Amino acid sequence: MRVSAGPLTSYEIVYDIASVTAHHDCPDIPFSIRRNFLKTFDNPPPGALIERYLGYLDDKPVGYLELNFPQLDNLDIVELDLLVLPEHRRHGVGRALYDLAVERAEVHHRKHLQASTVDRHPDGTAFAESVGAKQGLVDLRSRLDVTALDESLLAGLRAEADKRSTGYTLRSWVGVPPDDLIDGVAYLEGRMNADAPTGDLVLEPEKMDAERIRQGDLTRERRGRRNYQTGALIGDRLAAWTSVVAELDQPAHAWQSTTIVDPEHRGHRLGLLVKLENLSLVRREKPALEAIDTFNAAANAFMLKVNRAMGFRMVDSWIDWQKDL
Ligand SMILES: CC(C)(COP(=O)(O)OP(=O)(O)OC[C@H]1O[C@@H](n2cnc3c(N)ncnc32)[C@H](O)[C@@H]1OP(=O)(O)O)[C@@H](O)C(=O)NCCC(=O)NCCS
Repeated sequence: MRVSAGPLTSYEIVYDIASVTAHHDCPDIPFSIRRNFLKTFDNPPPGALIERYLGYLDDKPVGYLELNFPQLDNLDIVELDLLVLPEHRRHGVGRALYDLAVERAEVHHRKHLQASTVDRHPDGTAFAESVGAKQGLVDLRSRLDVTALDESLLAGLRAEADKRSTGYTLRSWVGVPPDDLIDGVAYLEGRMNADAPTGDLVLEPEKMDAERIRQGDLTRERRGRRNYQTGALIGDRLAAWTSVVAELDQPAHAWQSTTIVDPEHRGHRLGLLVKLENLSLVRREKPALEAIDTFNAAANAFMLKVNRAMGFRMVDSWIDWQKDL
C-alpha cells in the first residue's frame, strides 16, 4: 500500500475522519454535528492561522492533519491535531502526516510542536513517544452529571461562598460580554497561561484585548456555539469570571471553559461562586442539559477541589505533548 500526504480536498472528508476517530477514542463526548463542524473551516478563532492536510493509503483518505500557527502570541509554537481512522492505523499514515507537520513548522519558523492524547487507548502515547515528543502537562477530564445534581449540596456551597464574598456582585450574560465588562474579561482571559499550570509546555500568556474577545464570541456563534458567562464584580471592576461553551445543536452537553479569579481577589470563594451562578444560568438556558465536561491540569489542586465539591468526577486523563524541533 502506498502512503502519502497532501492538501485538503474536501471539508466533508474531514468530518468523516474526525467524527469516526473521536467516537472511537472518546465515545462519551458528543461530537459536533456535521453542519456546525463544517462552519469551523470558514470561522476560525481570531489569531489562528490554520493549515489542513489529508493522509492517504493508496488513493483513500484515512488521516487528517490540522496545524494551527498562532499569529498574535506564542509565535514559536504550532498546535497539531493528527488523526488516523482506527482501522487504518499502523501503516505509516500518522508518520507521513507528522513529517509534513515538521516541514510546515519549519516553513513558519516554529520551534515547538504541541498536541494532546487521551489515555483510553495506547495509540496516541505510543505514537508521540515514537517521534521523540516529551510529556509537557497532564490534564484530567472531569464530568458533572447534571441529571443527578445534589441540590442541597449546591445550596450549601452557595451559602458558604456568599458568606465569604460580601461586597462582590454577580453578573451573567450570553455571548459577547457587555461593553463595561469586556476589557475585564480580556484581562482575565489573558492571564490564563500565566496563572494556570502549564507544566513543561512552552506557552506564553495570550495577548487578549476587547476586540479579540468580541471576535472570539462572534465567530463562536457563527460556528453554532454559545458562550454562557458569569462574572463577580467589586464596584465596577471584574474580579472573577467563568465561561461555559455549548453547541446549540447539542442540548445535552456543554464544556466548562475558563474560570479565573484576579490574584488580588483570591480567597473569597469567588471561583466557586461564579461557577455555581453560571451553572444556574446554563441550566436555565439549556433545560435538556445532562453533562458538563471540563479539563484541568492534574497539578491544579485548587480548581480540582472546587470542581469535586460541585460534583465533577474524573473521566479520563490526557497528556499534552511537546516536540522541540
Ligand atoms: C496517533 C495516530 C495519529 C497514529 O497514526 P498511525 O497511522 O497509526 O501511525 P503510524 O502507523 O505512522 O505509526 C508510527 C509509529 O508510532 C508508533 N505507534 C503508533 N501506534 C502504536 C500503538 N498502538 N502501539 C505501539 N506503537 C505505536 C509505532 O512506533 C509506529 O511505528 P511502527 O508501526 O513502524 O512500529 C493514530 O493512532 C490516531 O489517530 N490516534 C488518535 C489521535 C491521537 O492521539 N493523535 C496523536 C496526536 S500526537
